[in-house]
Amino acid sequence: MTGCKLMGHHERKETHFGTVHAKFIPMAAQVLFLFLSILCHVATAGRTCPKPDESPFATVVPLRNFYDPGDQIVYSCLPGYYSPGGYRRFTCPLSGIWPVNTLRCMPRVCPFAGILENGAVRYTTFEYPKNISFSCNAGFVLNGTDSAKCNEKGDWTPSLPVCSPVTCPPPSIPKFAILSDYKPRAGNNSFYQDKAVFQCLPQYVMFGNDTVTCTTHGNWTELPECRDVKCPFPTRPDNGFVNHPAKPVLDYKDKATYGCHETYVLDGPEVVECSKFGNWSAQPSCKASCKLPVKKATVLYEGEKVKLQEKFKNGMLHGQKVSFFCKNKEKKCSYTEEAQCRDGTIEVPKCFKEHSALAFWKTDASDVKPC
Ligand SMILES: *[C@@H]1O[C@H](CO)[C@@H](O)[C@H](O)[C@H]1NC(C)=O
Ligand SMILES: *[C@@H]1O[C@H](CO)[C@@H](O)[C@H](O)[C@H]1NC(C)=O
Ligand SMILES: *[C@@H]1O[C@H](CO)[C@@H](O)[C@H](O)[C@H]1NC(C)=O
Ligand SMILES: *[C@@H]1O[C@H](CO)[C@@H](O)[C@H](O)[C@H]1NC(C)=O
Ligand SMILES: *[C@@H]1O[C@H](CO)[C@@H](O)[C@H](O)[C@H]1NC(C)=O
Ligand SMILES: *[C@@H]1O[C@H](CO)[C@@H](O)[C@H](O)[C@H]1NC(C)=O
Repeated sequence: MTGCKLMGHHERKETHFGTVHAKFIPMAAQVLFLFLSILCHVATAGRTCPKPDESPFATVVPLRNFYDPGDQIVYSCLPGYYSPGGYRRFTCPLSGIWPVNTLRCMPRVCPFAGILENGAVRYTTFEYPKNISFSCNAGFVLNGTDSAKCNEKGDWTPSLPVCSPVTCPPPSIPKFAILSDYKPRAGNNSFYQDKAVFQCLPQYVMFGNDTVTCTTHGNWTELPECRDVKCPFPTRPDNGFVNHPAKPVLDYKDKATYGCHETYVLDGPEVVECSKFGNWSAQPSCKASCKLPVKKATVLYEGEKVKLQEKFKNGMLHGQKVSFFCKNKEKKCSYTEEAQCRDGTIEVPKCFKEHSALAFWKTDASDVKPC
């Protein structure tokens, strides 16, 4: 029977039909060989076990297409899988039918990893060979991997991360600035959303936000800038003057005061300030007053009827407005039209008719009933 075991099934078949080689073998040996072969075949005919059924996540060793009775096979779970009952060993029985395989291989389960403090875990199961992934809440940063795999041994690789609070190192300090409000709460560092406030040294002007905030990236929002701001000396207006501090240079927030010579009016604010852009908040000028454009007229000034020649003996100042009366001849009524003194010029409304001093019998437009 040892001979049978040493030979494969196919070899045996070949021996039955392949007698070509027989003439090269001595007669006695040939007969003996043939005899043994037939014996073997008779003993095992129809009783070899077939290739065993596959079992999920398991391997069979040895794996062949045929087994002789007495041959052993071992089922074992693939790496990453286990069976509560361990592996299964089977022997090919004389019937040639393998016993029912009850081996069930199940994936290994890694330790529960569904909760990440200050973060979230994305997973389907914790079984081999699944990946799970991690993220942290705002203000926290992953310390470790962003995904882990349940490995063959049932452990997480790489090991599970933690969400550590975001910290910002002390902010750098802009030139010409000081920190006016800063309290590191994390040792020498700050936590997410902590704030720091800057101030510029005196005479320096802040550009940007004085407050910086520790961001989710562990850096600070944009730092402000402190700039040295100077304004040029203000220019004297024509027909006027400007006063400014008697200093070699004029700085941010320095003020200058404007005034005009007699009969001139300041157009713009009296006081201007050196702005953060290094220019003055305004550039006032002096505007000329107007000579009276007519000898006599009754006009409306600030809601009252006045005699132009009396009210404005010295002329009208720049910006002053009066309303002249005009006649509507058809309707025999009066209406008004406005005129304003602008830097020495005033235009009398075309509808206004100045009476000759002799035409005393004519009714002045200002005495006619309004339309
Ligand atoms: C699992 O994660 C690893 C890295 O951690 C990655 O290389 C692999 O592609 C992931 N597999 C799946 C199915 O997401
Ligand atoms: C990351 O975590 C490890 C241990 O969990 C800890 O020792 C380390 O300080 C953490 N690193 C940061 C930047 O939080
Ligand atoms: C904070 O900074 C000071 C000075 O640089 C240093 O001596 C100290 O060790 C730091 N403290 C921490 C907790 O890092
Ligand atoms: C400055 O930043 C703070 C927050 O960092 C914000 O609340 C404030 O509105 C900002 N101020 C200006 C003038 O932009
Ligand atoms: C902070 O860091 C983030 C990410 O690296 C970057 O996009 C951003 O520009 C940085 N902010 C400042 C103010 O440097
Ligand atoms: C001052 O300069 C700023 C920036 O160049 C400009 O926006 C502003 O209009 C200027 N102001 C005056 C009054 O010219």
